[in-house]
Amino acid sequence: MVCLGNICRSPLAEGILKDKIKALHLDWEVDSAGMGSWHIGQPPDPRSIAIAAKYGIDISGQRARQFKASDLENYDLIFAMDNSNFRAIQRMVISDSQKKKVKLIMNGLDAGMNQSVPDPYWDDDGFEQVFQMLDNACEGIIEKFYEEHGQPNEQ
Ligand code: 4NP
Repeated sequence: MVCLGNICRSPLAEGILKDKIKALHLDWEVDSAGMGSWHIGQPPDPRSIAIAAKYGIDISGQRARQFKASDLENYDLIFAMDNSNFRAIQRMVISDSQKKKVKLIMNGLDAGMNQSVPDPYWDDDGFEQVFQMLDNACEGIIEKFYEEHGQPNEQ
C-alpha cells in the first residue's frame, strides 16, 4: 500500500486489509510505504489512528518508511493510492513483471476510472471518506483473490 507520506492513507489501507485477512485466516504479508521521505520513522497521523480506532482497528504501532525498489520484487501486488504515486512507482519498474504488479487501488472497484484516494492531510473531514473508500477497495481485493483462486470451501 503506497501513498506520499505513509502517514495518512497507506497506513489505513494496511490496517484495513490486515484486519480483513486476519478474520479470513488468509496468510498474506501486507505492508505500506510512502514515496516521500519526510515522515520516515513516524507513527500514522493522529487523525488516521482515530478513524481506524473508530472501526476497531489499531494502526498506532505502524512506522512510516519510504518505498524502495526491492518492494517491487518482494511483493506480488503494489497498490498506489493516487495517480501521482502510481506514476512515481511506474518510473521505478525495471521489468514487465514488476510493471504488472502496480495497480491504482480504486481501479479494482472501478476499472479504468483512475480514481485517486484524496489526500486528507490538509482536510480534517476527509478521513472518514478515505476510510470508507479503502474499506471498499480492500474488500474488492479479497473478492478478486477469491474469484481467481476459489473460495475457501471450493479448495
Ligand atoms: P499520505 O498524506 O500520503 O496519505 O500519507 C500525506 C502526508 C504528508 C504529506 C503529504 C501527504 N506531506 O506533504 O508531508
